[in-house]
Amino acid sequence: MSEHNDTIDALSNESRTFAPPATFAAAAHINDGALHAEAEADLEAFWARQARELITWQQPWGSVLEWDLPYARWFVGGKLNVAENCLDRHVAAGFGSKVAIHWEGEPGDTRTITYADLLDEVQRFANVLRSLGVAKGDRVNIYLPMIPEAAVAMLACARIGAAHSVVFGGFSAQSLIDRINDAEAKVLITADGGYRRGEVFPLKPAADEALAHTPTIDHVVVVRRGGNDVAMTKGRDHWYHELMAEADPVCAPEAMDAEDLLFLLYTSGTTGKPKGIMHTTGGYLTHVAYTHRNVFDLHRDRDVYWCTADVGWITGHSYIVYGPLANGATQVMYEGVPNYPGNDRFWEIVAKYGVTIFYTAPTAIRTFMKWGADEPAKHDLSSLRLLGTVGEPINPEAWMWYHHNIGGGRCPIVDTWWQTETGGIMISPLPGLTVTKPGSATFALPGVNIEVVDDNAQPVEHGGGYLTLTRPWPGMLRGIWGDPERFVDTYWSRFQGRYFAGDGARLDDDGYLWLLGRVDDVMNVSGHRISTTEVESALVSHPAVAEAAVVGANDATTGQAIFAYVTLRGGQDVDVATLRDHVATEIGAIAKPKAIFFTPDLPKTRSGKIMRRLLRDVAEGRNLGDTTTLADASVVDELQRRAAETPSED
Ligand code: WT7
Repeated sequence: MSEHNDTIDALSNESRTFAPPATFAAAAHINDGALHAEAEADLEAFWARQARELITWQQPWGSVLEWDLPYARWFVGGKLNVAENCLDRHVAAGFGSKVAIHWEGEPGDTRTITYADLLDEVQRFANVLRSLGVAKGDRVNIYLPMIPEAAVAMLACARIGAAHSVVFGGFSAQSLIDRINDAEAKVLITADGGYRRGEVFPLKPAADEALAHTPTIDHVVVVRRGGNDVAMTKGRDHWYHELMAEADPVCAPEAMDAEDLLFLLYTSGTTGKPKGIMHTTGGYLTHVAYTHRNVFDLHRDRDVYWCTADVGWITGHSYIVYGPLANGATQVMYEGVPNYPGNDRFWEIVAKYGVTIFYTAPTAIRTFMKWGADEPAKHDLSSLRLLGTVGEPINPEAWMWYHHNIGGGRCPIVDTWWQTETGGIMISPLPGLTVTKPGSATFALPGVNIEVVDDNAQPVEHGGGYLTLTRPWPGMLRGIWGDPERFVDTYWSRFQGRYFAGDGARLDDDGYLWLLGRVDDVMNVSGHRISTTEVESALVSHPAVAEAAVVGANDATTGQAIFAYVTLRGGQDVDVATLRDHVATEIGAIAKPKAIFFTPDLPKTRSGKIMRRLLRDVAEGRNLGDTTTLADASVVDELQRRAAETPSED
């Protein structure tokens, strides 16, 4: 049992291990420790080699890194164009007819887009943007469904040196207003609507609502996708297909400075107005190309890669658009939800395109567990050779389910830890090298320097603490748009000289990293600091449980008491007493929830993260605060109703 004075107590003890299959390791890009040794010997030389080998530069850089804490400049003086790296150079190397994107629309329509096709469309659209007055250094807003035009629009911005700001298509008019105005964007690219669960969801009407309050927008480009009726304001609004039909097909890529702004991406965080996270050109592209190649062991001549994220999130930016295209990958892009027309849609797509590398979120995996193993079993998933996860800690039991039911027991799993702010993957197994443990993101990648520290910034060798980064990395955020003070306060002030990511982590006996969730979520029960993640994983390790969310609610005796919200797997049943005992057996009596509520769904953000703050409000009987970022607000109403009815146990 842990000590009371630990920063975060370590409770779980997962002992299963999985070595890379010999055949996988033999063919993998990385299957020995040379890359780690190289990065440890000379960090700057290591990243310089990646930048030289993976990226094409129009002009070489002078210095690799200028580090004036907390401001980093990478590949200073170097010039390059991101779109040229993602498109032109592949076409020039003879890969013009290679498929870049197998696009699958939700209703079942498809498009096959080669690298030559994509280059053509991007050049035309770059000229369209110029004709609408967009110049190098301007900002362009993108509010689109998951259609190829989203990637085209991003790359067209990059081609002419305008920064994009993508707003997830599920966000409201108000979110769009805040983000457009903060960035002072000149042009908005949207669509009439997109498909979601068999129906057209309108986008242009939401955009119109926003446009009444966005004085900087001069022009709106509208892609026709949903076919729904939309109003077009003369002089301001233009159809994409009409502009493209007239556009000049040739547009030379701008020479961009390595430190020029590539994009802004807004993250809401827990409080206050959204932060415009700034990512620049040369370092970002190097980081995402390096991680996409090595973490996913991409072999571009034979892999079919599929990342199920939306382009509206950083995962879509780094691992649908920039990383895979810089590496010349062939990928699947899917417009819709995983349960339309049936709960097996993803597995049907894997079989149809022969997907070899599949990257998704733990929240999706837990949903698949709820739907049952029969769904993937309907399809031939034997093309898969590597699986990945991102977004939250993956509970060991969800990892095992993924391993068996999707990976057929043969695919390594890369649990990748990173953030909007880090730009690219930071902690992950290397699939041909690392022995994995279910639920652990394992080790920092070569070139990334992590330290877990206690409240006094002292390194923790063993046990729980705060996850910090001690050295700059090329994909790191360069600031918060328009708010340098907030940049320093948010990321660089908790621990002197270190970037603090907001996450807790634990180091086990073998030095493996276990992410413990946001430190704001850590509970304090009778002086023990317990991570919600570990109790959730203990609950999910019961065979009847698909998903669990745990929060600490104020308690007169213990300071905080553990409240758990549990969703069962399809067709399963279990009682509260059994689950409480199960947690006690798995990780100890101290972690036994005081109350357990069963619920068909948990409140989640639109990107699938559990909103523990709301569950805390429910547990403490408070009125709910801001629920606007919830994917489905009815879930908490139902929980409140049940909380009022259910007595808690001691
Ligand atoms: C936060 C960042 C990075 C793309 C998607 C999310 C959590 C992310 C993991 C993981 C445990 C993870 C962290 C992080 N997170 N990946 N593999 N294991 N936690 O981007 O919205 O910026 O969220 O997601 O808490 O800080 P984001």
